[in-house]
Amino acid sequence: MDKAKIFITRKIPEEAIQLLENDFVVKIWEEDRPVPREVLLDEVKDIDGLYVMVSEKIDQEVLDHASNLKAVSIMAVGYDNIDVSCLTKRGIILTHTPGVLSDTTADLTFALLMATARRITEANRYLLAGKWTSWSPMLMAGQDVYGATIGIIGMGRIGEALAKRATGFDMKILYHNRNRRPEVEERLGAEYRSFDDLLKESDFVVLLTPLTPETRNLIGERELDLMKPTSILINASRGATVDEEALYQALLNKKIWAAGLDVFQQEPIPKDHPLLQLDNVVALPHIGSASIATRKKMAMMAAEGLRDALLGNRPKHMVNPEVLFQL
Ligand code: GLV
Repeated sequence: MDKAKIFITRKIPEEAIQLLENDFVVKIWEEDRPVPREVLLDEVKDIDGLYVMVSEKIDQEVLDHASNLKAVSIMAVGYDNIDVSCLTKRGIILTHTPGVLSDTTADLTFALLMATARRITEANRYLLAGKWTSWSPMLMAGQDVYGATIGIIGMGRIGEALAKRATGFDMKILYHNRNRRPEVEERLGAEYRSFDDLLKESDFVVLLTPLTPETRNLIGERELDLMKPTSILINASRGATVDEEALYQALLNKKIWAAGLDVFQQEPIPKDHPLLQLDNVVALPHIGSASIATRKKMAMMAAEGLRDALLGNRPKHMVNPEVLFQL
């Protein structure tokens, strides 16, 4: 029997490529930029498996071009760029990489929180620009992290890992989630709050929720109005959970104190975007899970998921297990 064919949309760590080359014919988009749409549409024509990143939109048009496709694997935990119901209707398996990146992403989220509270990037820019001419009592004075109240929206694996870090800073931990998490409340002392109460009480509001129709534009003008003028918004989920125009106005008019953003509605965010012109914004290029070790683990996990799906074994981390019952 001919080996199944796979297309990988970015250069991934070598061991993950090797794992797939053991069983399949593998083609890779080698350039250090996302695969152009027309190339993707052409490459998917006769493949059995597709290995993608958060940067590719996998929708009906792609699937219409991919009549042999049996499985898609994303090297990420979030999969809002993929039309899951369209995949499921066609019996195509989707796998992703949960768990393996939780601690690394929580580390980055906490680093972003601290950098924003203590104005680290702003202070660094100030110094590098030669503006530091004398010590001054209130120079770059920021907000305290230790002992402050953190409000986590989305108490999944990453939220829990973040709450654990917050305990080390003696923070009061509030959370809002679809379901209450009694074990997290007990183990980490987290307190459940309604969405509005969390916004009103928190010094740091941290978004870690997946992007769904319910969480799109979750934070807009009304929500920013509920937050304290000294509070900080941290977004490490997906850009579209925040109305960026409303956030810009709130930051400009000091309705909230600052924002730390790892994700944006448009990625990469254009250099001249209004949010990037503000001193009270710390912006990062979507690097939540970007440690060398974790990215290697994610690459392997996504490769294993695709291999298992194509060899007829049940993948460990299936997004749409109902596909198996349609076969
Ligand atoms: C990254 O954003 C991921 O979902 O893994």
